[in-house]
Amino acid sequence: MIVRLQKYLAKAGVASRRKSEEFILNGRISVNGVVVNELGFKVDEEADIVEFDGKEVREEKRFIYIAFNKPVGCVTTVRDQFGRKTILDYVKNIEERIYPVGRLDYDTSGLLILTNDGDLTYRLTHPKHNVDKTYIVKVDRVPSKKAISEFEKGIVIDGYKTAPAKINVIKKLEKGAVAEIVIHEGRNRQVRKMCNAVGCKVLSLKRIAIGNLVIGNLKKGEYRYLNENEILYLKNL
Ligand code: URA
Repeated sequence: MIVRLQKYLAKAGVASRRKSEEFILNGRISVNGVVVNELGFKVDEEADIVEFDGKEVREEKRFIYIAFNKPVGCVTTVRDQFGRKTILDYVKNIEERIYPVGRLDYDTSGLLILTNDGDLTYRLTHPKHNVDKTYIVKVDRVPSKKAISEFEKGIVIDGYKTAPAKINVIKKLEKGAVAEIVIHEGRNRQVRKMCNAVGCKVLSLKRIAIGNLVIGNLKKGEYRYLNENEILYLKNL
């Protein structure tokens, strides 16, 4: 990111922004070997070399980890060419450039992890790391015994057989049912397609857990920072 020099110095812990401005005006700061004593000067956080009294000042990259309850009607990106709501309409005032780990459909709600830790994102989304994802689904009919066993055996969708998944009916409704589904792949619209393939139409879909990390009582559109144990847990998955 391109930031003002005094902001860079403050973020790197040299001094407050005001004090950093003094250092700049006093000629104690150089950028790429040249003294800068202009307050509007901007630096590239990744590329420029900033020195204070001849000693390099490096910003520590701060990793952040957020659990977000994505509402329906929000795209899992930080920008949308059609002007739809994005995660950044809900998760505000965060300086770091965060992005979602995996995705949820526009019409799916629930738990989404947001981070700037590319390494964790890679590991959590890589197909070889079989992280369970738990969904609560409302379907238009009660899944038959056959449907349940097909889920457990794997279902061919888009020419590919899904890995064994679990479906557990938790409530029968007047019309349809509520079920818990656990899958550990993350193919495009996978739960919807699996339900369709066994004759059930998805009426609503919500992700409630990623591994042991649960959405808890986060309200729709709300987010919270993960605690140390949760971060450690995800890193060790
Ligand atoms: N499966 C789906 O069909 N949609 C999602 O958003 C997530 C899993």
